[in-house]
Amino acid sequence: MDRLVVEGGVKLKGEVRISGAKNAVLPILAATLLTDEPCVISGVPELCDVMTMLRILKSLGKIAEFHNGVVTVTSGRHANFVADYKLVSTMRASFCVLGPLLAKFKKAKVSLPGGCVIGVRPVDLHLKGLKALGADISIESGYVMAKAARLRGNNMYLGGVYGSSVLGTDNVMMAATLAHGRTIIENAACEPEVADLADFLNKMGARITGQGTPIIEIQGVKHLRGAEHTIIPDRIEAATFMVAAMITGGDITIKNVCPQHLGAIIDKIEESGAVLARTDGTLRIRPKRRLKPVNVTTLPYPGFPTDMQAQMMSLMAVTPGISVITEKIYPDRFMHVAELNRMGARIQREGPHAIVEGVKLLSGAPVMASDLRASASLLLAGLVAKGKTTISRIYHLDRGYEDIEQKMSALGARVWREKE
Ligand code: EPU
Repeated sequence: MDRLVVEGGVKLKGEVRISGAKNAVLPILAATLLTDEPCVISGVPELCDVMTMLRILKSLGKIAEFHNGVVTVTSGRHANFVADYKLVSTMRASFCVLGPLLAKFKKAKVSLPGGCVIGVRPVDLHLKGLKALGADISIESGYVMAKAARLRGNNMYLGGVYGSSVLGTDNVMMAATLAHGRTIIENAACEPEVADLADFLNKMGARITGQGTPIIEIQGVKHLRGAEHTIIPDRIEAATFMVAAMITGGDITIKNVCPQHLGAIIDKIEESGAVLARTDGTLRIRPKRRLKPVNVTTLPYPGFPTDMQAQMMSLMAVTPGISVITEKIYPDRFMHVAELNRMGARIQREGPHAIVEGVKLLSGAPVMASDLRASASLLLAGLVAKGKTTISRIYHLDRGYEDIEQKMSALGARVWREKE
């Protein structure tokens, strides 16, 4: 297992290019199951999660090849409709093969993903939507068994206690593309990654409108064809580099970014004292002399994303004053709090809130990454801490950030990987 070592104290300066969005590419790869024709996806980041999805596609009978950021998916000789526990349990996003498999093969057997360190993460909304399309669904030995001679379009409301579901919307939207008649999903997730999936499906011949809004309408078609698509830039990676500029007092120009996907983050980061300059496809960010504490509440898009909560907490941990961070998507996504406190942060968790009292200095320490975004928050804290921070279990970071230490090093960071 690798660990990451960071020596803090360098102001990060220069340019960084953002990779394609992990949370867009994973369901888009699953969508290739809806056709027998070849699909070519560009701007694909080289991430562990992407490689896992390619393994899943292969286990389902596809031929999937990754080369220089381009994935080509073609059909093999034998299609399979069973997604195995061994693969699905390593990555929740693999559950979104359920909708495409059911639509294409009229039956599917997909392992239930189970919970993970950021929470229980149920799939009731996925199943509710597929049932509304007429699927017969049962759970047997940890697997979802789904079948439907013909899926039929329907109206449905896909909201749960924490609001809309990203992968739930993806799963149902994909199934509905091949259903008979019209489907309307109310309280659909509005995340740009969902809209990117809908755009890809439309290139395949689907008839989807309303993507990016809470009401998505899908007019079912008989057949989907192969398509080519380029993945949108990763807004969470871009935002992580925005925080890197702020926390180190640096000056970073971020390339291949969609500022329109970063509204809530830009709002909060400007409130905390960022100076931003936008030009076509680039965003330059540096802090004013004094940073200010800001209160942040995570919400479904266009609200502040839960996937940036941990990184924002690192910034607040070194910003003078008190800030309150409220997590409304995954109330238990606070594993990073104890690790940041080991570095000298003063953060107190109270239910879904973290009360952060900014300190003058963090000190490097051995810390442990618990999930992808927690790892990013520890790396950011390490960039500004005095001395050396060693982050173990760094494989979490490799699930979602492409070439992270190369990109950070190119900006001047002293960061390297070691064998544990
Ligand atoms: N929920 C339900 N029932 C469901 C599905 C979800 O109650 O059937 C709840 C969840 O427990 C959570 C909330 O609804 O409280 C939102 O979960 P959602 O379904 O939107 O999450 P997801 O689709 O499983 C995606 C991202 C996550 C990101 C969330 C929220 C992918 C591959 N994953 O997960 O990304 O945190 O949306 O925006 O798209 C990450 O990249 O680090 C990451 C965890």
